[in-house]
Amino acid sequence: MEVTKKGLEDVVVLETKISFIDGKNGILRYRGYDINELTEYSYEAVSYLLLYGKLPTENELNSFSHQLRELRPIREGIKGVTKVYNINIEAMDALRTTTSYMSHFDPDLNNESFGARLHIAMRLIAKFPTIVAAFRRIRKEKEPVVPDPSLSHGENFLYMLTGKKPDPLDAEVMEKDFIISAEHELNVSTFSARITASTQSDFYSAIISGIGTLNGPLHGGARMNVMNMLDAIGTPDKAEDYVMNLISQKKKVMGFGHRVYKTWDPRGKIFKDLVKRLAEARNDYTWWDTATRIEETVLYELVEKRGKPIYPNVDFYTGVAYKYLGIPPLLATTVFAIGRVSGWSAHILEQFADNRIIRPRAKYV
Ligand code: SDX
Repeated sequence: MEVTKKGLEDVVVLETKISFIDGKNGILRYRGYDINELTEYSYEAVSYLLLYGKLPTENELNSFSHQLRELRPIREGIKGVTKVYNINIEAMDALRTTTSYMSHFDPDLNNESFGARLHIAMRLIAKFPTIVAAFRRIRKEKEPVVPDPSLSHGENFLYMLTGKKPDPLDAEVMEKDFIISAEHELNVSTFSARITASTQSDFYSAIISGIGTLNGPLHGGARMNVMNMLDAIGTPDKAEDYVMNLISQKKKVMGFGHRVYKTWDPRGKIFKDLVKRLAEARNDYTWWDTATRIEETVLYELVEKRGKPIYPNVDFYTGVAYKYLGIPPLLATTVFAIGRVSGWSAHILEQFADNRIIRPRAKYV
């Protein structure tokens, strides 16, 4: 019995129809559509694509969107959980606790039909933004903002965070963040959700496995650490020394490197352009200049000089975008989860539809 490369690197454990990644050429497709094309759709349409396997017709989208927006508000019964928000807990812990609490009120919890599980997925997709925004408002000793069904997913999230309708560019960037964060094949949190579903546990337990796994700093937690790195560096002229210091201590630069991409993560490219537009719109280039100096230093020191394929991943420029959007670092991983919950849901449904319990071996030493 031989152990595969540590961390299951390059091990193909299942077939999926949900997404395709070409790590060598930096290509990502959801259900066959390139990510650069999908950022022109709404997050609701992309969630429909992930769940149903096809883009919705206009009627299908109107009905799906209407159902999601009806499901956005947190029901009375669940509001009880918000009293733990005042304890000094992390945002992802609040999301995990609230998701678990929600399951106690969900009549579909143990209903194993596709329709019931799809309904749970829609409740989670619709409510994650409301939960995260309510957490933030309560921690700032403000009243949670009631969701506005006339706003898109991204627009409504920023509105619930601040109480003000966001400007069109901010709304566009938030919507595209949810779209590019939605799905990424067998990343660790998705794999964790599928493993849980493979025991025929319930949908909520599989999602909660995903939440716990995404929280790690090497996975979804990186976005928050990118934001903290920008704050630690402060001004663009200090970026190079900061990065050189990390590299000399053989520490990882957050927001760079990827197990699969050995070139630019296409999502990094999309968000680098969006961050430039945010800087131009605000005529504030601090974070843009700092980020591009970090990028230049990493690419020169690790790629050019050492031949290591360490490029910006999805978390680098999204972390910079969050600075411009005024999203605090402590919410960064929960904002990633708001996007990723539709990808987790699609994979859980796919696992349930054609299941065999996932149980690898270990070599006893
Ligand atoms: C996400 O899987 C997904 O698809 C995840 C994700 C998704 O959409 O779900 O894309 C989202 O999680 C993106 C990754 C976010 N994490 C970070 O930004 C944290 C920093 N990145 C690294 O921790 C690392 O690159 C990983 C975790 C992303 C990948 O780790 P691997 O494949 O196990 O690579 P490794 O740690 O074995 O590194 C290989 C070499 C090492 O050098 P040597 O020991 O061979 O000399 O590359 C070096 C590492 O030191 N390296 C880095 C680096 N990442 C790898 N050096 C400096 N900075 C980095 N960021």
